[in-house]
Amino acid sequence: MVERSNWKSNVGFLLASIGSAIGLGNVWRFSYMAHQYGGGAFLVPYIVALFVAGIPIMILEYGLGHKEKGSSPLSFAKVDPRFEWLGWWMPIVAMFGIMLYYSVIIGWCINYLFYSFSLGWGADPQSFFFKDFLQITDSVAILGGIRIPILFSTMLVWILCWLICFRDIRHGIEKASLIFMPILFALTLVIVIWTIFLEGAPDAIFNHYLHADWSKINLFATDPLARSEAGTVWAAAFGQIFFTLSLGFGIMITYASYLPKKTDIGKNAYITCIVNCTYSLVAGIAVFGIVGFMASNQGVPFEEAIKGGPQLAFVVYPKAISLLPQFNVLFGLLFFLMLVIAGLTSGVSLIEAFTCSITDKFDWPRQQVATAVCILGFLGSIIFTTRGGLYILDIADHFITNYGLVAGGLLECILIGWILKASVVRNHINRYGLGVAKVWEYFIKFSTPAILIYLLYLSISSDLAKNYSDYPTDQLILYGIGWMLICLTLALILAFRPWNPSKLKRRHRPEDDDLLV
Ligand code: PHE
Repeated sequence: MVERSNWKSNVGFLLASIGSAIGLGNVWRFSYMAHQYGGGAFLVPYIVALFVAGIPIMILEYGLGHKEKGSSPLSFAKVDPRFEWLGWWMPIVAMFGIMLYYSVIIGWCINYLFYSFSLGWGADPQSFFFKDFLQITDSVAILGGIRIPILFSTMLVWILCWLICFRDIRHGIEKASLIFMPILFALTLVIVIWTIFLEGAPDAIFNHYLHADWSKINLFATDPLARSEAGTVWAAAFGQIFFTLSLGFGIMITYASYLPKKTDIGKNAYITCIVNCTYSLVAGIAVFGIVGFMASNQGVPFEEAIKGGPQLAFVVYPKAISLLPQFNVLFGLLFFLMLVIAGLTSGVSLIEAFTCSITDKFDWPRQQVATAVCILGFLGSIIFTTRGGLYILDIADHFITNYGLVAGGLLECILIGWILKASVVRNHINRYGLGVAKVWEYFIKFSTPAILIYLLYLSISSDLAKNYSDYPTDQLILYGIGWMLICLTLALILAFRPWNPSKLKRRHRPEDDDLLV
């Protein structure tokens, strides 16, 4: 067995985990959701989700990785060999379902970083983004060839990730996080402060961001339609918490496996979650502020100025940057650099979870595995650099955030709560450090899985209620592939029947006894 490297310092570990959590999603995904789902009122389900699912599962992932000293496949296999597949499924989904397109979006940010020098998106950033930059095709059936500038920037992203992941954990990811994370915090702070002083920004921050529309989150509304819409908001808040905290991918399990024996797991989990969510709240100020500035500058209503998804960063921001009274180029550079750094520190964590799974299993040298993973990853992401890539990206994102993460989290809770027994992990965590309260065990065994099952139900019912006859055939085929993957996973779960009581008896492990203090 190859000797496992350790983090050099707890701060290094924390910054790397926070770096994984803070990503592109904190800047635009969070802000857009906050806007769409009731402004300030969205913060209620978001914070509830943080406490009832985010923090408990973060503690679970850290605790498991630290206890079993392994990436997710190894850790799960140590708990119960029948669950090794779940340990593989999570980093595979992360690598092939997320990183392949995530790397391309970081690539776009690099392209835009260069465009910032000359404000190259011109007077109409919307048509620049879709027509000139992406050169998007009319449908997914026409991939329409590779966009060379995007291919090069994506290649650069993979090279940077490779340079970081190639080394062992303390000389690669830890060192990079120690350099990148302070820069990221500083850049964000400069952008937020700069934005607050723009004309129209305070109005948008107070009247749109912090202004709460309580009716959107009322699960007890008498009107059934309002109730079902409130359900969607709550589901979105939980989905966002999983995505933003990088849970359900095996990342945090892997990162915690490199921690030394004496570690305060509970404290680390609280800090990671709180810093990440505070970052989102603060970044939201910058996003709403800049949209407010643009709206007031152009004399259009706020609702018309704000846009979702990639358009927020690649259409709304460029437009606002061009309108700034001074230092436009500098603002553009800072903003896109912030996105590149946020994306890279998340990207390397996805690669690490997959690389470490392979090295744990096969004992192959880390350098060679990381190199092969990055080359294959780059080749795989080429599909998203084509002119029709955005369509595939949309659907991949839909299935992974709505089903993949939530299902992964649910199965984790079942495995740890019922098969390993939550108390074993809690006792392990409580040997060193602040201590995790007993209520955590109830969360992992009952409330968190119950909520996640309800969320899956909400996602499935809203997908089934869609009117598919309006969809073009090629898009339907992609949806079909997505559903087939889900069915395959269900078949695996049925085959392993983790709930079968006769199988719940775990092999006796003497090392667990000594933990039950
Ligand atoms: N947490 C990251 C974000 O908010 C996304 C991410 C997901 C990163 C999965 C790594 C793994 O953008």
